[in-house]
Amino acid sequence: MELKEQLLTLKIIMFGGKGGVGKTSCATSSAIWAAEHGRNTLIISTDPAHSLGDSLGVELPPGIPTSIEDIENLTALEINPKANMAEFRGLTDMNPLEEMGMGDMMGGMPLLGDLEDLTSMNPPGIDEALAFGKILEFIETEHDYDLVIFDTAPTGHTLRFLSLPETLSGWIGKLIKMRMRVGNMFGTLKRLFTREEKKTDNSLDVLEKLNQSIINAKDDLTNPIKNSFVIVMIPEEMAILETGRLLNELVKYEIPVSNIVVNQLYQDTTELCDFCKTRREMQQKNLGKIKEIFKNKLNKILIEVPLFKEEVREYEKLKEMGKFLIR
Ligand SMILES: Nc1ncnc2c1ncn2[C@@H]1O[C@H](COP(=O)(O)OP(=O)(O)O)[C@@H](O)[C@H]1O
Ligand SMILES: [Mg+2]
Repeated sequence: MELKEQLLTLKIIMFGGKGGVGKTSCATSSAIWAAEHGRNTLIISTDPAHSLGDSLGVELPPGIPTSIEDIENLTALEINPKANMAEFRGLTDMNPLEEMGMGDMMGGMPLLGDLEDLTSMNPPGIDEALAFGKILEFIETEHDYDLVIFDTAPTGHTLRFLSLPETLSGWIGKLIKMRMRVGNMFGTLKRLFTREEKKTDNSLDVLEKLNQSIINAKDDLTNPIKNSFVIVMIPEEMAILETGRLLNELVKYEIPVSNIVVNQLYQDTTELCDFCKTRREMQQKNLGKIKEIFKNKLNKILIEVPLFKEEVREYEKLKEMGKFLIR
């Protein structure tokens, strides 16, 4: 499905890719287009390094959905997943099996990998997990928006949270549940996904609820008539490798992807200096590879966006970018 059709019909669109490639610009530009085509649109940034407000040229108070003046139907929100970092510290140095005195016994078992990843993520991982938790929370919260656009989608690493329901239904889950009868180890995990502040001792219920909300969110996220993930990349070798890995992860978790934006392309003009000509040649070579791999082999729609002379920010420039994104 073309991005245009997605913007007109889907409930959720996520823009993801490496830092600095143009995710925020593409997300904002698409959000403006959707809003101006009659869809009540919310754009949410879950990136700890926010630039949504900067991109739109407005002040966005953290955590408060703000209507964008002069653009009917557009609301923007920056959420700060870092805010409660301290609360989640526990997750980073927690090893449930060691706590249970079973560390040695189970250490060599292959299935442990996933559980360890969930419980021993380093702080950057936790950041992403919090952001993803916020995404799940939003997806599962009743709201009046026709379309929610996420600037900064979950990365391959955080997507594994979607496999929590399977994890919990297997023997690892039994271990976790056993452990939870003893204590409240997953209190921290639960707070990744809920706003609940009160200390509860009904951890098992909470875990079941968390489980259910992930299952629900997963249904929405994997449904191609509800959600699509748009990858933004630049025409460089490293970006090709990274995009390949990201796509693999998305396929693994059944998140639909049909569009890939190739951003910041030097245009073919005689004005180009030697330096820019060389860069353009490099880009064209990589664009060829991108077409070969992602378009011909994997059937993705490529959206080519030129490198503009100026920064892409605020209404006029974002509209200009929109002309290339949506055709
Ligand atoms: N096609 C483009 N031409 C010129 N500048 C661009 C283009 N796309 C993005 N930029 C600029 O690059 C910088 C990073 O873009 P941004 O959208 O914030 O990236 P990300 O969200 O992926 O980190 C911004 O200053 C933006 O204005
Ligand atoms: Mg950004």
